[in-house]
Amino acid sequence: MRRKLFSLVVATALVLVAAGAAAAANGGFTPPTAHSPNAQRINDAYYLILGFTAFIFVLVEGVLLLFVVKYRSRGRGREVDGFQIHGHRRTELIWTAGPVLILAVIASFVFYKLPGITGVPQASAADQLQVTVEGRQFYWQFTYPNGAVSVDTLHVPVGEVVRLNVISRDVDHSWWIFELGGKWDAIPGHPNHTWFKVDQPGTYEGTCAELCGLQHAAMRAWVVAEPRDVYNPWVSAQKQKLDTGSPALGQEVAAGVCAKCHYFNQKQGSLVGPNLANNARLTDLNGLTTLVRNGGVLMPAVGKYWSDGQIRALVAYFKQQSGGASGGQG
Ligand code: CUA
Repeated sequence: MRRKLFSLVVATALVLVAAGAAAAANGGFTPPTAHSPNAQRINDAYYLILGFTAFIFVLVEGVLLLFVVKYRSRGRGREVDGFQIHGHRRTELIWTAGPVLILAVIASFVFYKLPGITGVPQASAADQLQVTVEGRQFYWQFTYPNGAVSVDTLHVPVGEVVRLNVISRDVDHSWWIFELGGKWDAIPGHPNHTWFKVDQPGTYEGTCAELCGLQHAAMRAWVVAEPRDVYNPWVSAQKQKLDTGSPALGQEVAAGVCAKCHYFNQKQGSLVGPNLANNARLTDLNGLTTLVRNGGVLMPAVGKYWSDGQIRALVAYFKQQSGGASGGQG
């Protein structure tokens, strides 16, 4: 009876362990494939540590199971002591020196890799693109060298070093693109600097990794890596959109900033903030400027640092949406 119960417990445990690993797959058990040298170095450190810990886990659990079976009581009285041993010098040396060596190896490896993770590569400092990444409740705004801005989606040339100036002017956020390097906190008053060099064209997803308020979970981010001859015209056009207050930029801002907290269709009810369907303030330049610059009762001052062009673009988009006819006197 007891043996049956024991087998059942072991079998159940094995099933649970296997199910967990299977469900997690690459989605949680191992880091995603690295697409930047610094991300690769972080993964290298992860796998080294995983190797040691996996080995020790198997060793300890294996010996534990072996001893449980081999040295079970076999009907001996409960009050009978086990075989007494004291002081086995070789074993004690091994279990002291072993962990010390393992920790030394891990520490040396991490310190060896660290400069390549935090430090920006020296080569060709002239063509390094520098972008300001600002975390704000509840969106990411990117400012490019020519003054262009984009919201939530950062465009970069593939194969080039991109320096990121990670800042915040409201609360703590954390910039994290899974395949392009570790997390970098965006802290008010303390700019952080990181970089990446994307190895192949594509879209890389990320998220804010610091609880920053009600809509923290909506603070996703994307990095679009594209060839130089696609990036250059894109960034010029994006600047043009800002200068002219284009509704196309307004749409990007509305989707990235306003839509995190507001629905715009009456049928959808309300999200975190009130539903904005047919709200006259959206098409009133002065009214909307006051609102985004100062915030509302519960609304953060999302546009406190926006240029006039960015706000004009937003109003232009809302006017376009409402048919361009009626609206404020903006
Ligand atoms: Cu920003 Cu969480």
